[in-house]
Amino acid sequence: MPRIFVTRIIPEPGLDMLREHCEIELNMADRVLLKRELIEGIRDKEGLLCLLTDMIDEEVMNAAPCLKVISNYAVGYNNIDVKAATVRGIQVTNTPGVLTETTAEHTWALLMAAARRIPEADRFTRQGKFRGWSPTLFLGTDIRGKILGIVGMGRVGRAVARMASGFDLKILYTARQPLDSASEEAHRAHFAPLGALLCESDFITIHVPLVPETFHLIGAGELAAMKSSAILVNTSRGPVVDEKALAKALHAGVIRGAALDVYEDEPRLAEGLADLPNVVLSPHIASATLETRSRMAYLAALNLLSVLKGETPPHPVNEIRGRGFGAGNREALSQPLTPDP
Ligand code: DGY
Repeated sequence: MPRIFVTRIIPEPGLDMLREHCEIELNMADRVLLKRELIEGIRDKEGLLCLLTDMIDEEVMNAAPCLKVISNYAVGYNNIDVKAATVRGIQVTNTPGVLTETTAEHTWALLMAAARRIPEADRFTRQGKFRGWSPTLFLGTDIRGKILGIVGMGRVGRAVARMASGFDLKILYTARQPLDSASEEAHRAHFAPLGALLCESDFITIHVPLVPETFHLIGAGELAAMKSSAILVNTSRGPVVDEKALAKALHAGVIRGAALDVYEDEPRLAEGLADLPNVVLSPHIASATLETRSRMAYLAALNLLSVLKGETPPHPVNEIRGRGFGAGNREALSQPLTPDP
């Protein structure tokens, strides 16, 4: 049986599948491995199932001469040096589709929590400060009838747009490639350049991958361009927003508020961020439901096993000579996936 390394415990559907077909070494400690531990674990393995918190660079790959596949338990794969993997003939895979709706739901939870100041009000109530109804207690802002700006109209961006239909919002979006007119109509969304979207939107939500072009896409200048009443939501990757600039802007009232699930230097937060009342913070849990994390585990295991069997995996990230970069073996999936962007 092929030998594989799994860097952290993932939900059972995935581990069960892997146990049936592979000899597994599993990190049982509930923490991110040190680089030397990762290198030690991967040394004699053909497969690696890793998390977005594992940095898989050239040094790690060089330590694993038999490695054929890196299966990332995430849709984002900015933690992996894909170019270095491709050069070495290592297939990289990810888990798109299965977490789309769950991430979009969390985006809405954050947006609503920030707009209606739920965490602040929760703390106030628990602290015994509630002395009875008041006409001016925790005034938030309506969502209905406002303008929602979606930065990045891939799977999650589109799911956020679909969920907006109950709120009677106008939707602006920006994307590398505008949607075709039928999709725009279906999502009730209008393309706008980033500058216009930032100036006009009341709520701005980010759904782009972290690549060199999106690093600090939202910085001091972009924050200054937003309405002073705007709320910024980020469930994509932390470094897309200049977090120090955001903390400063929130402190100075440049924008009304923010809601973040991701941070520039996880698990650390920018100085002062946690002291601000006008920011809602969650610990990178946008995909964290039992159902979705189980589906991710299943898909990550299926990706890994497909490559070890010599098949095209359901979700390849890179093209490996001789294996190709096709639509993947998606019929092997028993769970329906949302369509690709
Ligand atoms: C991902 O998959 O990229 C999310 O950040 C975690 O589920």
